[in-house]
Amino acid sequence: MSETPEFPDGPGRHEPSRARELTARAAERDAADPLAAIRDRFVLDAAPDHASGDAGVYLDGNSLGALPRTVSGRIADVIAREWGELRIRSWTESGWWTAPERIGDKIAPLIGAGPGRVVVGDSTSVNLFKALVGGVRMAGKGCTEILVDATTFPTDGYIARSAARMTGLAVRPVEPARIADEVTERTALALVNHVDYRTGRLNDLPGITHALHSAGALAVWDLCHSAGALPVGLDAHHVDLAVGCTYKYLNGGPGSPAYLYIRESLQERFESPLPGWNSHADPFAMDPSYTPAEGISRGRVGTPDILSLLALEAALEVWDGVSIEAVRTKSLALTDFFLECVNAYVPAGRVRSVTPHDHQRRGSQVSLECSPKLSTAAEQGGAPTAAEVMDELIRRGVVGDFRPPDVLRFGFTPLYTSFADAERAAWVLGEVLGALPDVESGAAGTAG
Ligand SMILES: Cc1ncc(COP(=O)(O)O)c(C=O)c1O
Repeated sequence: MSETPEFPDGPGRHEPSRARELTARAAERDAADPLAAIRDRFVLDAAPDHASGDAGVYLDGNSLGALPRTVSGRIADVIAREWGELRIRSWTESGWWTAPERIGDKIAPLIGAGPGRVVVGDSTSVNLFKALVGGVRMAGKGCTEILVDATTFPTDGYIARSAARMTGLAVRPVEPARIADEVTERTALALVNHVDYRTGRLNDLPGITHALHSAGALAVWDLCHSAGALPVGLDAHHVDLAVGCTYKYLNGGPGSPAYLYIRESLQERFESPLPGWNSHADPFAMDPSYTPAEGISRGRVGTPDILSLLALEAALEVWDGVSIEAVRTKSLALTDFFLECVNAYVPAGRVRSVTPHDHQRRGSQVSLECSPKLSTAAEQGGAPTAAEVMDELIRRGVVGDFRPPDVLRFGFTPLYTSFADAERAAWVLGEVLGALPDVESGAAGTAG
């Protein structure tokens, strides 16, 4: 990956020395990167294939994390031995029954939670439902509304509206930055995304949580785009409830189970709207009346999805010896470097970063607005859409993704993304956009 490419006719042709400098800097930073060796814990493309032109860069770990090497062998063993030979005995002898709490305790340090506060199971959407209805049931009498992050990932809004309808409350969409001003004594809770899925903006979890508490409301956070990418500090900031998925920066695999966090001091009051038998105090008593389990187990519902759960548990082994602070340091360095390379390689005016430059407000992705309206070629109908640009990037081996209407998303997973990946991706983006009709237009503005 650190091999220095030739720059005969790429978009950097006007400044080949700049391109060489960036390539050399990428190699230096990779050589000095304390997390560089962690990449070997994943199954990834070996190196860019210059002959075929396939860049071999994976920047979509914010959608589906890469496969950790620990998973395949573990799942083979679960199937062949635990299921194949031990069969039903595995519920106890292989620790299947206690997996949701055990794996919750493995995720907990990554999101700043103590043991016994996180339980794994179900999808994020289902856990949102538990958190929202459970939260409203704990809120003060006289509350009439739920605030929802106006820029939220859609499922959060859908579930919040349903939860509100069931509990007789209204939903009010509010921009995260406005929540401190908009919360009132009638607000039961606010549901906020820690990192915005589209722009990569990091919302102020400590400040918003504090403002909600000052008004007597609960804070419910969606950590899908922050867990495993940056420190969250749930306990330290007294967050009430949180949910998140495990298939992005936690690399649990497609459709891997999500998790629910309940603040320790609230657990006794938490009444699940899905009180399945797994959350009963004595599930095998088969008691027709319901008594909730003590502690975080009351966040469980039905029989856990053991294969996916144990794949996730194996995937979490990649975190051995890795601190989330080191991950954050590298994430910011990678996203800074990518933006610098985009600025150097992409023809002026073709993209605009919608990800905040301020480190305090940046998650672990870079989102580039790539709209025909930014291009003079649009007037001639010649500019490709962002979706077409991403298709072409993927064809050339730079895998990011596209979010409507015009955002190219590039996710940086510090456990396996290198500085050479960042440089290479920006270079290919420059090639793709540089080959377009308005390459020489000199339209105003650059990335960022
Ligand atoms: C911020 C956010 N919340 C919720 C979800 C939905 O999660 P699930 O499909 O596990 O319900 C996603 C999925 O990408 C997401 O990004």
